[in-house]
Amino acid sequence: MQSQIHLPYVASVLLCILHVGHCRDLRNVTEPKTPESCIRLTATTEDETKTIQKALDSCGNSKAVELLSGTFYSGPLTIPSGVSLSVGSGATLKAFPDPALYDTGAHTCGTQDTYGVGCKAFITIHGASGSGIYGKGIIDGQGGETMTGRNVSWWKMPVNSINKGNARNAPRLIQINDSVDITLYQITLKNSPMYHIATSKTNGFTVWGITINTPSSAPNTDGVDPMGSQNVTIIHCNISTGDDNVAIKAITAPSRHISVLNNHFGSGHGMSIGSEITYGGSDITVSGLTLHGTTNGLRIKSNTFRGGLVTGVSYTNICISNVVNPIVLDMRYGRNVVGNLTPEFRDITFTNVNVLTDGTFTFDGLSDSKPIEAKMNDVHIKKGSKWISEYAKISGTWADDATGTACGYAGNE
Ligand SMILES: *[C@@H]1O[C@H](CO)[C@@H](O)[C@H](O)[C@H]1NC(C)=O
Ligand SMILES: *[C@@H]1O[C@H](CO)[C@@H](O)[C@H](O)[C@H]1NC(C)=O
Ligand SMILES: *[C@@H]1O[C@H](CO)[C@@H](O)[C@H](O)[C@H]1NC(C)=O
Ligand SMILES: *[C@@H]1O[C@H](CO)[C@@H](O)[C@H](O)[C@H]1NC(C)=O
Ligand SMILES: *[C@@H]1O[C@H](CO)[C@@H](O)[C@H](O)[C@H]1NC(C)=O
Repeated sequence: MQSQIHLPYVASVLLCILHVGHCRDLRNVTEPKTPESCIRLTATTEDETKTIQKALDSCGNSKAVELLSGTFYSGPLTIPSGVSLSVGSGATLKAFPDPALYDTGAHTCGTQDTYGVGCKAFITIHGASGSGIYGKGIIDGQGGETMTGRNVSWWKMPVNSINKGNARNAPRLIQINDSVDITLYQITLKNSPMYHIATSKTNGFTVWGITINTPSSAPNTDGVDPMGSQNVTIIHCNISTGDDNVAIKAITAPSRHISVLNNHFGSGHGMSIGSEITYGGSDITVSGLTLHGTTNGLRIKSNTFRGGLVTGVSYTNICISNVVNPIVLDMRYGRNVVGNLTPEFRDITFTNVNVLTDGTFTFDGLSDSKPIEAKMNDVHIKKGSKWISEYAKISGTWADDATGTACGYAGNE
């Protein structure tokens, strides 16, 4: 019925399809190559912080410090511009679980308070160009180990007696700020005390063939969080963790031109955009994703406190099984969190999405004048699923006719 079609809406939905070249990382990304080593280190049983840091500082441009074999114990490390760290297949780099080593000055690292900014990361890359982390070895954040001088782990930290709150002061595993052309390749990350990988204002970021393997019970252990970053590719990864597998955010700058291609997510809170999206998230492609056993599947969350424009998002060739909430688009995330910003979700397309087990699908817009605008092509969901839609304009076709019992695997095999 032609009269029901809202023309400006149709035009906006077509944008990402017609200009699909823009809804992705604008770089032509190819498989990374591990840089040549400037030095090869073998583990001792000592504190290795100074040895590794010294090697990184004197390594030289386009070369890598290679951890050859054994278990290396270290406190926080900084990777300089142009330099990489390579953890070989026989090596594990373990973060000392000592809050004093990561404390940013207020002696709050290792406690919960109102701010959650009391610890620096285990590995920091700041103002760098062309740095990276490579190798088939393991970086272990030891989030489940007992903290030095305490009787609990990072994951179970106590509330600060003076400055109470529920923000956890625990080190992120890898923090990348104000950088360009950063690569993570093949590495396995596990047991981060907090987020595994977070970027801020970083343009040109490739995450290729990595594994994240952390228990589903570990709090705030997001997998990969590109924040205020552009030209990002996350490809051939296998991510199981305790919070968002991937979360795209925009707290201090826009996040755009992001490709999430051929990945597998095990446990976790799913493929997320938001909730902090003040500066906008756009031109995002998620393609070739299998999710098995996450709590959410494809999720965009925001509210009037953290809102902004999310547009030009395309999900294609997605298979979901054993997921409670396979698709959640929520403009009123955390019902009591309100402010005066305006979340907008427009030009969101779902193409060839198969959901093999029943679940709850939620499309919750802000109001009649700020509805969710999404389009579906070839979307198949399981009979018996629940479909909740308020203030949402969903066009296209979908049906509860999904068949098949297993999704296969789209990760780093
Ligand atoms: C990427 O490759 C295409 C096709 O070869 C080319 O047209 C385009 O200019 C390349 N883009 C960049 C940024 O190198
Ligand atoms: C993204 O990549 C394209 C192609 O290489 C480049 O022209 C553009 O400047 C990059 N954007 C940013 C913000 O670095
Ligand atoms: C840790 O120690 C404190 C006091 O030193 C005690 O109150 C608390 O019960 C202990 N917690 C655990 C998990 O043993
Ligand atoms: C990195 O950026 C985040 C977000 O802007 C900020 O909170 C953090 O302090 C920065 N870290 C470093 C080491 O600059
Ligand atoms: C993906 O990673 C998990 C551990 O996180 C592992 O058990 C599983 O075998 C991996 N899948 C493949 C196909 O490598």
